Formats: sequence, structure tokens, C-alpha cells
Amino acid sequence: MAEFKRIVILTGAGISAESGIDTFRSAGGLWEQHRVEDVATPEGFARDPGLVLGFYDMRREALARVEPNAAHIALARLEREFSGDLLLVTQNVDDLHERGGSARVLHMHGELKSALCTSCETRSRWERTMLDRPPCPVCRAPTLRPDIVWFGEMPYQMGRIYQAIEACDLFVSIGTSGAVYPAAGFVQEARAAGGRTLELNLDPSDGSHLFHESRHGPASVLVPAWVDQVLGG
Ligand code: APR
Repeated sequence: MAEFKRIVILTGAGISAESGIDTFRSAGGLWEQHRVEDVATPEGFARDPGLVLGFYDMRREALARVEPNAAHIALARLEREFSGDLLLVTQNVDDLHERGGSARVLHMHGELKSALCTSCETRSRWERTMLDRPPCPVCRAPTLRPDIVWFGEMPYQMGRIYQAIEACDLFVSIGTSGAVYPAAGFVQEARAAGGRTLELNLDPSDGSHLFHESRHGPASVLVPAWVDQVLGG
């Protein structure tokens, strides 16, 4: 593993599971507790903004009760000590990568701690409730929404992500089911570009067969061990 110089990492809900944040598709996951079409689509937000704002308030408030785990911390060590190019792309909207010490994180599905104004389209760091329709810090209009990429919307910074995948010599997928595109297609893009592909996941995902290598187990065990390998122990 020490021979790789340009690494792209994609993380999903599984890397935060051991910190106590629900995943989406495991038993009892978020998509068993709520209907996607009600809380994670623009149509759902238009239909019942209070339900949607309450859903993201609940998830934002839960962040205060969880901590980064050994997997987040190991990826932060990789960022500090790895001498090559590293891009960490996450599908997660939690802040555990940052609180685990990662300084450069690309949130392709947005962030719970960010508010998007639908009037002036600016983003603001956001920690509190949106249920009371607070004014946008920039234009003062009461038109803030969660800065979350909903189903049917375009994930953020796709050009930058594809550019990094085209150039990488190693693509690592951590804690994601491979159920949602475009992220689920990154492994094929990396292979087509000649990169090696590695999956670190609790159990085989929908895309396991697409990886050169799949390792199965908890992220808190697999990720620190993999980072040790990349950094040469
Ligand atoms: N360690 C490693 N992997 C784990 C762990 C763990 N402790 N616990 C669960 N997993 C794995 C599961 O096996 C599963 O493959 O994490 C994956 C979680 O899958 P999902 O719940 O589908 O979450 P994710 O892949 O991140 O979903 C992708 O779907 O709903 C949208 O926008 C949402 O970003 C999300 C996207």
C-alpha cells in the first residue's frame, strides 16, 4: 500500500455508525424511520417545510451527543502524514471527519451545520434550529433551507471529484452501501482510469464485486489498520 501516491477516499454512513449516528439502509436505519420522499426531496420540503426542517434539526442536534471514532481519527492522521495527494470525499452530512481532525473534507451531499438561502443562494455556517424560519444572515429573507443535497438534486463539486478520480492510483470506499449514484459509480470510474480499488465495509456492499479488494469488518478496526499500511506502519 505504501507505493500509492494519489489517493481518493469516499466515505459513507458506515464510518460514523460506531459513533452512534444511524446509517440509512441498515435495520432500523433512517430510511425505515422516515420516508425519503417526505424528508429528503425538494417536493417534500415544498409540501411540508416544518416536517423537513424538524428532521434536519433532530439530526443536527444529535451531533452534540456523538464523537468521532478511530476511523475518523485515522483518516486525519493520513491527511497529516501522507506525502502524496489525498482527497477525502464524504457522502455524510455530519461533522465527524472535521472533529476527528481532517481539515480538507469535500461534503458532496452537503452538511447539517450549513444553511442555504433560497433567495440569495449564499451558504452560512449553522448550528441551531431552522423551524422558526430565521432570517438569512446575508440577505435577511426568511428563506433558509438545510444545505443538504436531496434526491433529484446535483451533488456538490462533481467536476473536482471526477478530476481527482481520473488521476488517482488508489480509490478507497469506506462504509457505504453503493446504493446511491453518482457516488456508487466512482469505483468504476477509478478502475477505468487505471486506479486500484479497495472497499472497507462492515459487510459486502452492492458494489463489492467491482473492487479489486474488499475487506469486511468495522471501520474503527479496518481504517486504522489500512492507514498504518499506507504510511508504512
Ligand atoms: N463499519 C463499516 N461499515 C459499516 C459499519 C461499520 N461499523 N456499519 C455499517 N456499515 C456499512 C453498511 O454495511 C452499509 O454498507 O455502511 C453502509 C451504510 O450504507 P447506507 O446506510 O446506505 O449509507 P450510505 O451508503 O452512506 O448512503 C449513501 O444515500 O440516502 C442517501 O444521501 C444519503 O449519503 C447517503 C447515501
